Amino acid sequence: MRNGVTLLAIESSCDDTSAAVLRDGKVLSNCTANQEAHRQYGGVVPELASRAHQANIIPVVEQALRRAGVAKEELSAVAFTRGPGLMGSLLVGTSFAKAFALSLGIPLIEVNHMQAHVLAHFIEDPKPTFPFLCLTVSGGHTQIVLVRDTNDMEVLGQTLDDAAGEAFDKAGKLLGLGYPAGPAIDRWAQQGQLRFALPEAHVPGLNFSFSGLKTAILYFLREHTAADPHFMEKNLADLCASVQHAIVSALLKTLRRAARQTGIRQVALAGGVSANSELRRRFEEMGRQEGWSTYIPAFEYCTDNAAMIGMAAHFKYLRGEFCGQEVTPYTRGFWS
Ligand code: KG4
Ligand code: ZN
Repeated sequence: MRNGVTLLAIESSCDDTSAAVLRDGKVLSNCTANQEAHRQYGGVVPELASRAHQANIIPVVEQALRRAGVAKEELSAVAFTRGPGLMGSLLVGTSFAKAFALSLGIPLIEVNHMQAHVLAHFIEDPKPTFPFLCLTVSGGHTQIVLVRDTNDMEVLGQTLDDAAGEAFDKAGKLLGLGYPAGPAIDRWAQQGQLRFALPEAHVPGLNFSFSGLKTAILYFLREHTAADPHFMEKNLADLCASVQHAIVSALLKTLRRAARQTGIRQVALAGGVSANSELRRRFEEMGRQEGWSTYIPAFEYCTDNAAMIGMAAHFKYLRGEFCGQEVTPYTRGFWS
């Protein structure tokens, strides 16, 4: 048996079943089974998600251990996402982790999914230094987090309604694009012009609001397709460019306000929406203008993944923060 801290981490909060193995904070494997079943419904169906997790969890864990070249007897602890997320999905990962840890006689580590998105920045170089600001943008969350340390974080602002990824997905649905629509909007926008002005929400403080944008797009499309039934097909690229511009502008404007207010110049992006090409480009551009050091993790660590759970768990392991077998998942609260 080798020395060092070897962790198995499990992520099952939404629709991806993921397992990772880390040794001393280095990712040895990160395996994810994506669920295709939700596409036809235009969103995640919780019952289908739990069933798919149940089917995927053993093969994904076996794959992660195999790829890492680690035997289960070498593990120091088992980590899992405790929340926030969907109860049925979380229960699969939590129950598996509990049983696995119990059978191996090793400690159990519970991880908060939102903190793990932030700590994904410590998987690879370059790593931010404390304090830094992290804009976490995903299908379920949009928040600006002030990160003072690996276990000291504060949410400075968040969405009051839809998340940024949800705004992309809902706009895409209205534009006849499949689920999730974010990547398709991104692709179409690259061939489009910024031709349609969409309203901007004026939200106090460092919060966000995207539900008005969805309604504005709905009425805009209704009005124009009444005059020309092919309006949407003819203008899809320009419509995507306009929607994307509106969402990215709202995110960056508030992020800049947060950086100016706090005086912090270490600024990071996290979550699945940070794959968006316009967001990445304009974030880097803003960073140069504002004198920030900017950080975006590799894509596989931006979307939901177990490596980030393992990274968060590694810090907890070093602090001796373990949990008992009585631990239960939480769906909301703690930054949800
Ligand atoms: O973090 P993530 O993989 O899962 C969670 O929601 O936790 O984020 C998924 C979200 C979806 O809403 C998807 O449409 C969006 O990220 N997304 C994008 C892009 N790639 C993924 N949105 C805009 N542009 C992209 N390139
Ligand atoms: Zn997530």
